[in-house]
Amino acid sequence: MILLSDYRPPTFLIDTVEATFQLSPDATIVDVITTYRPNPESKEKSPTLVLDGEDIVLIEVKLDGCILGQEAYSITDTNLTIIAPPKKPFTLAIRTRVNPAANTKLMGLYRSSGMYCTQCEADGFRRISYFQDRPDVMGRYRARLEADKKEAPILLSNGNRVDQGDLKDGRHFAVWDDPHPKPCYLFALVAGKLDAVKSSFRTMEGRDVELAVYVEKGKAKQATYAMGALKRSMRWDEKAFGRAYDLDVFNIVAVSDFNMGAMENKGLNIFNDKYVLASPETATDTDYLLIEAIIGHEYFHNWTGNRITCREWFQLCLKEGLTVFRDQEFTADLRSRGVKRISDVRELKARQFPEDGGPLAHPVRPVAYKEVNNFYTATVYEKGAEIIRMLKLIIGPKQFREGMDLYFNRHDGEACTIEQFIACFAETSKRDLAHFSRWYHQAGTPDVSIRRLPGKGLTLEITQSCKPTPGQPTKEPLVMPVSIGIVEPKNTAGKQRSKLVLLDTPRKIVRFPNASADAVPSLLRGFSAPVRLATDLSEVELSTLAAHDADPVNRWQAIQTVLTRILMDASRSPNAITKDRLDLIATIVRQAISIGAQDPAFAALCLGLPSVSDMAQELATNVDYAAIHEARQNLKSGIATRITDTVYTAITNLPSAGKFTPSAKAAGRRAFQNALLDWSLAAGRTTPADVLAKMNAANNMTDKVAALAMLVHRSDAESAKNAKEALANFAAQYGRNPLVMDKWFALQASSPTPDCLARVQSLMSHPAFSLSNPNRCRSLIGGFALSNPVAFNDPSGSGYRFVIDQVRAIDAINPQVSARILTAFRSWRMLEPIAQAQAKSALQSLQATPKRSRDLSDILERTLA
Ligand code: TRP
Ligand code: ZN
Repeated sequence: MILLSDYRPPTFLIDTVEATFQLSPDATIVDVITTYRPNPESKEKSPTLVLDGEDIVLIEVKLDGCILGQEAYSITDTNLTIIAPPKKPFTLAIRTRVNPAANTKLMGLYRSSGMYCTQCEADGFRRISYFQDRPDVMGRYRARLEADKKEAPILLSNGNRVDQGDLKDGRHFAVWDDPHPKPCYLFALVAGKLDAVKSSFRTMEGRDVELAVYVEKGKAKQATYAMGALKRSMRWDEKAFGRAYDLDVFNIVAVSDFNMGAMENKGLNIFNDKYVLASPETATDTDYLLIEAIIGHEYFHNWTGNRITCREWFQLCLKEGLTVFRDQEFTADLRSRGVKRISDVRELKARQFPEDGGPLAHPVRPVAYKEVNNFYTATVYEKGAEIIRMLKLIIGPKQFREGMDLYFNRHDGEACTIEQFIACFAETSKRDLAHFSRWYHQAGTPDVSIRRLPGKGLTLEITQSCKPTPGQPTKEPLVMPVSIGIVEPKNTAGKQRSKLVLLDTPRKIVRFPNASADAVPSLLRGFSAPVRLATDLSEVELSTLAAHDADPVNRWQAIQTVLTRILMDASRSPNAITKDRLDLIATIVRQAISIGAQDPAFAALCLGLPSVSDMAQELATNVDYAAIHEARQNLKSGIATRITDTVYTAITNLPSAGKFTPSAKAAGRRAFQNALLDWSLAAGRTTPADVLAKMNAANNMTDKVAALAMLVHRSDAESAKNAKEALANFAAQYGRNPLVMDKWFALQASSPTPDCLARVQSLMSHPAFSLSNPNRCRSLIGGFALSNPVAFNDPSGSGYRFVIDQVRAIDAINPQVSARILTAFRSWRMLEPIAQAQAKSALQSLQATPKRSRDLSDILERTLA
């Protein structure tokens, strides 16, 4: 266990790091020459120098030019300790050998599709050289790469290229210099045969920056959208935060084997190719959106993460929560603010709330961890972003910007803590933010209830509480902004009043004395705090909000709440779907369809039913996924038959699509059209054969995937027959494009049909599948474990056993991937008893496996605890 309370400043600081890589696939020689000096802030009397190292071979250590004898250092599986280092500045030259070709963990230096690349966050640099692998040790890096010129004509690292040339034996070299001191987790190199899209950008400070997006040979055309997104990101950070880029070069490289989305290495961002490559024939609108958002995210890290980094990994949210907030705002400004907020709220509830409500719950700023790689979570990222959003709401945009400016000016070049970050805002806003900071330390989703009390006008009683989470049996009240609007039928949307209530006690009374008798309160507008909200609003009142609320989030939420209530009742007793309720909901859905003419993207969101997982979260105990699924299907067809004429008219009235563009507007139209098509299919107005024809005729991947999903996710014979043909057509067309095949795998893996597991099992031997590629694993096995609650939680336990077997196999290859897939079990305690017992015994069988990675053990132990 690593504890925040054990933090000590490093015993030695560093100034410069000179790294030379003689690249070769299975025996790369790495020389790292580092200048050290004792840290005046370290309290240790006679400090040793403890360096981290993992899976590398030490060849030689030299101190100030002299080879160190074995008595001068000690070495273990994880450390190299210099026993009595000088008490003055000195130079350490360490030569190691690493094997990139054998590196299947994809941390440190590894091979991907014939190229060399690195991933050092959080603790990968120690797999390259013995080093103080911690973010509060920062140095100026110069990297020299040497490689076979044919095998690796392109040589890249951080900063600016300062030298290059030929060597003997067909080899060549390049030297890169990064003038900005950085922690080793931001070091990167890439070498290989690459094509690039190049461009340039003039910053608001007048600096000309050379931009390039590197991809595998022959794929440059698919990188032009990413290049555009990069320029939009650069301009946006200047406008929104006054932050300009600070080097002469900015490179992005796409690699096909990558553990996460992307990595913000200084001046050399490395991306999962899924978040770079796009063409109309291969990328969906979601792909385009994510590429833009993630290009932005990594670029924004240049200031929030790189110029100002984290003191240690407990502070991860300092860079991640803040940078997610920044990328959310970027997307909101470039596309639609309302639609973006709804999507983010939906994601937060779908991914972060279950984490926060189960055995893996942890504070946004944790105080202990066993394996840092397991803390790149929805809580640190997405809840971390929600805290920043609340802070901005509470202190206002002007003071928020002043606080950010102070943070950038005061801490530039430093490794910081959350406390230092919050202090900047306390200072500029002259507020005491101590109580607010509790959001960082207290895990769990608060339950907020808002109910009306009798009296003149409108009187609201707001209460908050929070259930215990692991290690935190009792909870304190939090400070949260609760935005409340008043929707009165007599007022148009523009006239609706709104008020920001600061809830900082367990209970609070809020009065709107002038509210009319028919006023409906619109509660938690914009989802102003990440809480679970209960209200006393009736279904009729919710339908008023669905039709008239000026806040798009609450308009959407009202529809979801009505549907959720009906579904909840229906999953307990089939008779709960009364004719009255169906009529009400049909009216709401028809109304949502009518929005489609002006705002199709928003309408599409309103037309989606709560997912099976959403329902399970709502029920929270004794969850029977099959029953929920059945109730959901029944409700869907009940609504579909009532709205079929409206749907039909809306489809016929859709303006023609025109030439393909990935714009938000065009994407919104496609989303709306596909939502309508799905309802039409559910109503029987459209046949599975029609949908197949649509798939075959589509000129873009969004429409193809949408049609394919509709067929594959239905279990009637007619759909199954057409799905089979659709799948075959799709595979014949895209079989050689791994990223497109990922969609094909994921769709089948997430299908709530009875034969799903058998199908997934047979897909394991499909030629396009590979257990060692993270994207493939996440599509097929992750798709089943994390996106198919019905099949995964089958009471026979077959789904659990399959996933555990795969997790075991993946763990021997890549622990980050196996650990992530195992999180699918995190809600096992809320299952009905039969499935619960099966899940438990599957988990216990994994516990009995002798060799497990630390990543996997950590998740497993916490899940069972
Ligand atoms: N810092 C990266 C980001 O969020 C994510 C990241 C952390 C990562 N660890 C990683 C990416 C390991 C790849 C591999 O932007
Ligand atoms: Zn990030």
